[in-house]
Amino acid sequence: MSTNNAISLLLVEDEEFDVGRVRNTLRLFSERLHIADVVSNGRAALELIQKKPDNYDVVILDYQISGGLKGEELIRKIKDLDPCIQIIVITKMTINVTDYDFANNLLKAGAFWYCTKYPGNIEEFIYQPTDFLLGIFNAYEKKRLEKHTLRADRRLMQSVESLLEARKLIGESKPMIQLKEAIEKYAKTDANILISGASGTGKELVAWNIHLMSRRKFEKFVPINCGSIPHELIESELFGYEKGSFTGANAPKLGLFEIANNGTIFLDEVSELSPSAQVKLLRVIQDGEIEKIGRTGSMSVNVRVITATNKNLAAEVSDGRFREDLYFRLNVGPIDVVPLRQRGEDIQLLFDHFLEYFSRDLGVLAPSVDPKAREILMNYRWPGNVRELRSVVQRLVLNCKDKITSKDVSDPMILHSPVLTKDMWNLDDMFGGQVLPLRDMERIVRTRYFKYVRSISSSDSNAAEKLGLAPSNFYRMCKELGIK
Ligand SMILES: Nc1ncnc2c1ncn2[C@@H]1O[C@H](COP(=O)(O)OP(=O)(O)OP(=O)(O)O)[C@@H](O)[C@H]1O
Ligand SMILES: [Mg+2]
Repeated sequence: MSTNNAISLLLVEDEEFDVGRVRNTLRLFSERLHIADVVSNGRAALELIQKKPDNYDVVILDYQISGGLKGEELIRKIKDLDPCIQIIVITKMTINVTDYDFANNLLKAGAFWYCTKYPGNIEEFIYQPTDFLLGIFNAYEKKRLEKHTLRADRRLMQSVESLLEARKLIGESKPMIQLKEAIEKYAKTDANILISGASGTGKELVAWNIHLMSRRKFEKFVPINCGSIPHELIESELFGYEKGSFTGANAPKLGLFEIANNGTIFLDEVSELSPSAQVKLLRVIQDGEIEKIGRTGSMSVNVRVITATNKNLAAEVSDGRFREDLYFRLNVGPIDVVPLRQRGEDIQLLFDHFLEYFSRDLGVLAPSVDPKAREILMNYRWPGNVRELRSVVQRLVLNCKDKITSKDVSDPMILHSPVLTKDMWNLDDMFGGQVLPLRDMERIVRTRYFKYVRSISSSDSNAAEKLGLAPSNFYRMCKELGIK
């Protein structure tokens, strides 16, 4: 839009006579319509649009212009440069095709409208003036709406991108690459997905990623943990109720399926659903209809269902605790998220990622990490998976200043399960291929273990405490083992 709130026009016309006729026709509304530039060929038009982005609202384009670049090809190029700009084609219609095909091809190429020029003996106007002027005003309205939608879409896209960035799945191990491929594949479809995996492996993160990469990304993602809601409440949570449907229902309640309409619902710990909730869920999935408590008749919804479980749902089916028909409906796209200890180097990547994240959060420089400490972390079993790793790093960042040592990471306050370092349990290393009597083996293992525990403890009594021994017993046993 140009100055003075007038609609800014670019006129592409190579015949002076017709330029004059267009000017005359527009003169009726000269306050609101402004011919910003006139050019006589396609290349000049493209150059101007490129040089002055956002300067023109509507292009009035003569179909037969000299210079080679014209017609549909020119329309496409203009729309490539600025998809919101609107194009009205004017033509003498000396073309050897039916009107319908001609108009259709123009619209397909991206023109807004077209009109047939008056014969040359009419000098004042190029075309029926009211139609021509209204055409331009309508084209301008369309441009405004398209611009608005484009801006809104861009803003939405940016927020989706930042949501995705914040939920980025870290990891380059083979299982993670396969996981990311599965996410991409299923995001393109509307299939129901069942995500299985141990606690803390990232199931909810996977569900978010599928949603944010799917065509539903601008709609809601509604997570609910079926295990955390009492059985008697789960149905009203999921499907809602009408006012007065039972004592205490003083107002209608929207169910999560209604809230998630057009978007995605994420049912975590789905194995915990009561048998009657399972029946209702099956109904939504089969027929796209929910039955609200207290409502006669059902209600249509369009919701993608992603479920997660840390149980073996197939086994729940065999044991009769989960409906088989529902299981098959939920498990159209199965995804398994493997435990962290099976992801090799990802442990390091995740560790460094969280180290950066929590240090930045605290406004401190990330501490360096001792190689020995890294080794302990790599060999730890991570029973709580990524969630455990995340909170371990958070505690380390809070407790350690500029260096994280093996002592820091071996502290049972940090890693809760026993730490198994590689060299400690390498039997070849320990026994060099010999088989010793049990007593001698015990002595060697005890010696190493005592030394190890002492090395990660602040004092003898601290080591004794970790081993569950009285300090005097610890001292005596160390003497017997020849450590003291
Ligand atoms: N690959 C990953 N990259 C980055 N962060 C991750 C990754 N996997 C998990 N996380 C983080 O670990 C934490 C646990 O993940 P999430 O809640 O998705 O696990 P879950 O499998 O749903 O756990 P639960 O079974 O206990 O519900 C979250 O903070 C999540 O952001
Ligand atoms: Mg979860």
